Amino acid sequence: MLAYLEQLLNADSLSPHGICLLWRPELIWTHVIADLSIGLSYFSIPVALGVLVWKRPDISFNWMIWCFAAFILACGTTHFFAIWTLWHPDYGVEAVIKIVTAAVSIATAIALWPLIPKALSWPSPSQLAAANAELTALIKQRDEALDALRRESAERARAEDMLRQSQKLEAIGQLTGGIAHDFNNLLTVMNMNMERIETKLRGHADAGIRKSLSNAMLAADKAAAITSRMLAFARKERLDPAHHDARQIMSELGPLFHNAVQEDHEIVFDLPPGPCPVHIDRQQFENALLNLTINARDALGGGGRIVLRAYLRGDHVYVEVEDNGDGMPDHVRARAFEPFFTTKTVGKGSGLGLSQVYGFAQQSGGSVDVRSTPGEGTTVSIILPKVQRLSEPHEA
Ligand SMILES: Nc1ncnc2c1ncn2[C@@H]1O[C@H](COP(=O)(O)OP(=O)(O)OP(=O)(O)O)[C@@H](O)[C@H]1O
Ligand SMILES: [Mg+2]
Repeated sequence: MLAYLEQLLNADSLSPHGICLLWRPELIWTHVIADLSIGLSYFSIPVALGVLVWKRPDISFNWMIWCFAAFILACGTTHFFAIWTLWHPDYGVEAVIKIVTAAVSIATAIALWPLIPKALSWPSPSQLAAANAELTALIKQRDEALDALRRESAERARAEDMLRQSQKLEAIGQLTGGIAHDFNNLLTVMNMNMERIETKLRGHADAGIRKSLSNAMLAADKAAAITSRMLAFARKERLDPAHHDARQIMSELGPLFHNAVQEDHEIVFDLPPGPCPVHIDRQQFENALLNLTINARDALGGGGRIVLRAYLRGDHVYVEVEDNGDGMPDHVRARAFEPFFTTKTVGKGSGLGLSQVYGFAQQSGGSVDVRSTPGEGTTVSIILPKVQRLSEPHEA
């Protein structure tokens, strides 16, 4: 083997390739330029392939790319050596290089064939683009379905919350109504008896007794006012409804509202040009508006703006009191309509204002809505069914 190699690499009796070309310069230099160009190009290709595999390690069969690189490198070397053998007859070394090139070429070719069916099964760029578009559409559909689901569960949670709230108020209303009703009966008896005593004592008893009696009668009046608000919440207040223009009542009440608030509070009336016909008990409606205005005033502290608004929307008349005061945190808003719920100090609030508003709206076939943001303000809307005309049908 060694002797064979020695024999192979021995260039003693050989002449360089240039002799075959008779050292004709045009032949020699054309060969040199062609082989040099091929060799340099071949050497640059493995570098480009190396960069590709390095940057994209995820490419399938990247070992095949390395095989190509080796094969092209070997081919390039044979071209460089062809230039060498023009002047140096090292045909043995050239043969060794060619053998190595052949081995790499055969190995690459053998490895390449089994890959062809796999490579053919790869999706084409247009198939990939179509699959991608399909996937994007599916993701969009799924996102839309998820959004709808989220919206629906938020809506359901809100509806459940409202149902719980109205069930709670209904239960409290029944209890309050029962208590207020019995209390009212007792108060009526007390008032009647005190009035009888007052008549009998007139001119007889001393001033001290008469003063005590009048204090007792005053307290009984206050108690009657409280039971009346409790009855209003329980929707058991005796109403005297008639067709009214809510807008007109509000503008007539202007001076009363101005008296109810402080001087540094600005009151704005935002009323529509046409009538807002509703079927309500005027007295209770005025009470409700006053309760809302006083709440707004209390929320404003020093300075601020209260807007009394009325407008028509669909089959309803909206009557709103808006303030830019403290607003209500969630836990207050959730309980604001409960009778006797107050955040005010003892003596400042009985917690019956909003319950009267709630009871009045319900008993008038309407509802109440509160929107409040802590630090920004509150808007309470009384939503009442709109009636067709202002005068009662029988009056028309
Ligand atoms: N406009 C508002 N801004 C901020 N909080 C409010 C507003 N209106 C009502 N509230 C809150 O709701 C609670 C209940 O109000 P509600 O009118 O029923 O009772 P009150 O004002 O405390 O007492 P009352 O009206 O019987 O004198 C208030 O104590 C307050 O905390
Ligand atoms: Mg109040």
